[in-house]
Amino acid sequence: MGILGAGPVTQAIHLPSLARLRDILEVRHIMDVDPAVAESVAARVGARFSTSTEELLADPAVEIVAICSPHQFHAVQVIAACRAGKKAVLCEKPFAMNGEEAAAIAAVSAETGVPIVVGAMHTFDPGWLAAEAAWGSLPEQVHTVRSSIVLPPNPRFEDFATEIVGRGPAAPSAAGKASGPDSAAVKAMLTGGVMGLAIHDLPLVRRFAPDFRDVEVLYAQTVLPFGYVISLRAGAVTIELRAAMNGIWEPSWTFEAIGDDASLSIDFTPSYVHAGSATARIRTAASTTVLGPFGHNGYEGEWRKLAEIANGTGTAPRPETLIHDLEFALAIADAAAACVDAGNAAYEEASA
Ligand SMILES: NC(=O)c1ccc[n+]([C@@H]2O[C@H](COP(=O)([O-])OP(=O)(O)OC[C@H]3O[C@@H](n4cnc5c(N)ncnc54)[C@H](O)[C@@H]3O)[C@@H](O)[C@H]2O)c1
Repeated sequence: MGILGAGPVTQAIHLPSLARLRDILEVRHIMDVDPAVAESVAARVGARFSTSTEELLADPAVEIVAICSPHQFHAVQVIAACRAGKKAVLCEKPFAMNGEEAAAIAAVSAETGVPIVVGAMHTFDPGWLAAEAAWGSLPEQVHTVRSSIVLPPNPRFEDFATEIVGRGPAAPSAAGKASGPDSAAVKAMLTGGVMGLAIHDLPLVRRFAPDFRDVEVLYAQTVLPFGYVISLRAGAVTIELRAAMNGIWEPSWTFEAIGDDASLSIDFTPSYVHAGSATARIRTAASTTVLGPFGHNGYEGEWRKLAEIANGTGTAPRPETLIHDLEFALAIADAAAACVDAGNAAYEEASA
């Protein structure tokens, strides 16, 4: 396989995961626009390096392409990898930045037949998959879904995992700006939070709230230094999305789906910590079923799935599912921003 983009996620998450999967996947080529990063990261795994997408795609040793570049390059690189006739493509989240890009990807995937996987790792976590196999008719009765993410900032875990090369300067802190009257900063943090963080769990939310186009955001606010609290309804389901990235010592990443007679709660392991799978609990009045933890997490799960798809033993997700997941995320991000505008307008009217 070949990797486009060798930044922190490649270095701290994917290469350590792939190191455990050498019997099924071998990294042959690493590309990054920063030549020093490309060369140094490629050397860690004994792969070739280059600085252009075309060169990696032209490499016959590359059968599978993983796209780990910044968001804005995902769509164009996924399309180029499909056109290059590769066996399978993995694209880091978010899949694309708007509905048009996602539709263009789906059209190229359909035309070329190249299967695409999006790196929404929790959908490949064995704890989630075991819950899905066991929950029966739960989705029909769920009225409330909660996703809660409490994590330290990424660099803390990245530095625990490896020695990062080429990390850019830290983005200017939004603290102090993303509150009060600067609604542009508030909206930017909400959009970044939904498309960068909540997006991990939105495919899970959608299993219980399939009415993804009928989205109404009831409340949206930021949490400093980075985070969000968003309450919304999708169809008849009430959804709470919360995230806080700060200096806390104990990460916690939980997902809950609550129905009239049964509920599901899942504890996920933090992204950069290779600590096995999530643990899921399905509760009814009569019993609690505990599923997991299993030996590997969703990252390893997504790579295993990709290898199966490439060698013809696994089925790729339907492109419509990936597009609908993205449309759901974009609808929530837009509605959360609109909610901030509506709140500001109401405040100004009241103070006039
Ligand atoms: N699944 C997860 O848990 C997870 C975690 C963190 C980041 N991500 C995603 O992974 C992607 C990469 O994030 P990151 O944390 O590595 O940081 P990043 O986006 O800052 O770094 C990416 C690397 O890509 C390189 N790059 C820039 N333009 C490029 C291009 N056109 N082609 C190839 N490489 C290019 C940069 O030089 C850098 O080394 C993002 O889309 C992000 O959302 C996913």
